[in-house]
Amino acid sequence: MDITGKTAIVTGAGSGIGFALSKALIAGGAKGVAMADLNAENLKIKASEIGGLAVPTDVSDEAAVIALVDKAEAEIGPVDLFISNAGISPKPVRDDNEHWDQQFRVHVMGHVFAARAAAPRMAARGGGKLVNVASAAGMLMQMNSAVYTATKHAALGLAEWLAVEWKPKGVSVSVVCPLRVSTPMTDGMPDSGTVRDGVISADDAAGTILEGIADDRFMILTHPTAGMYWAKKAADPERWIDGMSKLKQKISGGD
Ligand SMILES: NC(=O)c1ccc[n+]([C@@H]2O[C@H](COP(=O)([O-])OP(=O)(O)OC[C@H]3O[C@@H](n4cnc5c(N)ncnc54)[C@H](O)[C@@H]3O)[C@@H](O)[C@H]2O)c1
Repeated sequence: MDITGKTAIVTGAGSGIGFALSKALIAGGAKGVAMADLNAENLKIKASEIGGLAVPTDVSDEAAVIALVDKAEAEIGPVDLFISNAGISPKPVRDDNEHWDQQFRVHVMGHVFAARAAAPRMAARGGGKLVNVASAAGMLMQMNSAVYTATKHAALGLAEWLAVEWKPKGVSVSVVCPLRVSTPMTDGMPDSGTVRDGVISADDAAGTILEGIADDRFMILTHPTAGMYWAKKAADPERWIDGMSKLKQKISGGD
């Protein structure tokens, strides 16, 4: 998709990758960007820095996501691109059911609600694009967090399903699977085996994501090594588990 003159929504836009994407879209000639985030105060400041439309939204609430699309369409214009990026950090590591529910609501249902609210409207107008930010943890794993690993795997599977479902109706779908990006989410977070693959800036990640959007790629990787690991895992899953188990022991000092 050529983003010039397009109307976009970005969730999780008050921070990290979402803010960098909003900034890059506006700099790249988008007509307007509706910036959604749970943290309303911070969002207002960040949106006013770059000329985005601040729409405080909880993406785990379906009515709020519908209201977000309504507001973006009323104030900027019909939405061409919905980047569903909001996410919750795997730190501090928790395993309680409340945390599982919350991560599932944001990392999976947030994408479901975005697709339900935006895709039919895009299709009715002749097309559009959904971009779901998952993680390389959805292809591989986040070795410190079961809930992050499981919800990001679900996000990747959902994106694949959405891509197949909506392609014939003119709505293309991309999924973004970064390794480590330097953002408030990862600042101070222990290495989960990804630091050796390079920690890139949110602006660099946003640049690669916009290239993937321009090329209409389904799988957008900010770190090429993620694709290489994915292929190795598919080729020999037992060897992969063995290697990851050894790497985890090494990183955690045997804990
Ligand atoms: N930083 C990384 O290394 C990395 C790697 C892979 C994937 N990701 C994914 O990229 C996305 C962006 O992460 P980031 O690193 O920029 O993190 P971040 O913490 O800097 O930003 C995430 C934003 O999402 C918002 N958010 C959280 N819950 C929300 C909700 N219910 N409704 C609306 N907004 C909500 C937060 O307020 C925050 O502003 C996430 O989905 C994350 O899982 C990040």
